[in-house]
Amino acid sequence: MKVGVFDSGIGGLTVVKSLLENKLFEEIVYFGDTARVPYGIKDKSTIIRYAIEAVEFFKNFELDLIIVACNTVSAHALSEMREVSPCPVIGVVEAGILATANALKDKNSNILILGTKATVNSKAYEIGLKAEGFTNLEAKATGLFVPIVEEEIYEGEILDAAFKHYFKSITKPDAVILGCTHFPLITNALKNYFSKDTVFIHSGDAIVEQLQKSFCFDTRYQTTKLEFFASENPESLKAIAKKWLNL
Ligand code: DGL
Repeated sequence: MKVGVFDSGIGGLTVVKSLLENKLFEEIVYFGDTARVPYGIKDKSTIIRYAIEAVEFFKNFELDLIIVACNTVSAHALSEMREVSPCPVIGVVEAGILATANALKDKNSNILILGTKATVNSKAYEIGLKAEGFTNLEAKATGLFVPIVEEEIYEGEILDAAFKHYFKSITKPDAVILGCTHFPLITNALKNYFSKDTVFIHSGDAIVEQLQKSFCFDTRYQTTKLEFFASENPESLKAIAKKWLNL
């Protein structure tokens, strides 16, 4: 099984980490559009155009599947990608909704959805979670976390200040949807801020759960061939991949 993993930048590497930990693929081709990140502040038509270009890029590889490891793209451009892709395309938003429904038995759970401006404006998580019966939802665009994580800051005063800025009027949630693939890197800091009992929904783990439960992925590959591509500065992406994925 050969999969293409697409993100606007480096955040999708957190999804690659989950795929590697679960040994689900023989080959992973990663593409990060580092020249044009962040997508989270762009409008829908631009996000769709960039997403279709990513599918065109992946046509150079004979892929069995494309995983959109970017919530912003998953929320806005999944159906357009599917129209032009020769292989199936799945995204982290749908997977995150399914993972939340599996993780939370109480439909009145207080769920905080974090994401980029574009993801939050799309209301994709709210629509999906309401369809699953959840009623107590709050969404917050926390785009500042993206450059903070890109700076490899995962704790400390800058992040604490951002938490205060975004969360001062927020009631402590039962669950937090990390609706941006950069955010898993600050889970510990979020746990310290909210509570260690808060349930966190991680896009990478959600995709693994969806592949296993809905698509019956059960083969395990002992080794996975990895290839990394970026629209700008691929060496920097490879260096971060090495660090985050312990390669
Ligand atoms: N990784 C993107 C996401 O999951 C966020 C970064 C961006 O704004 O491009 O939404």
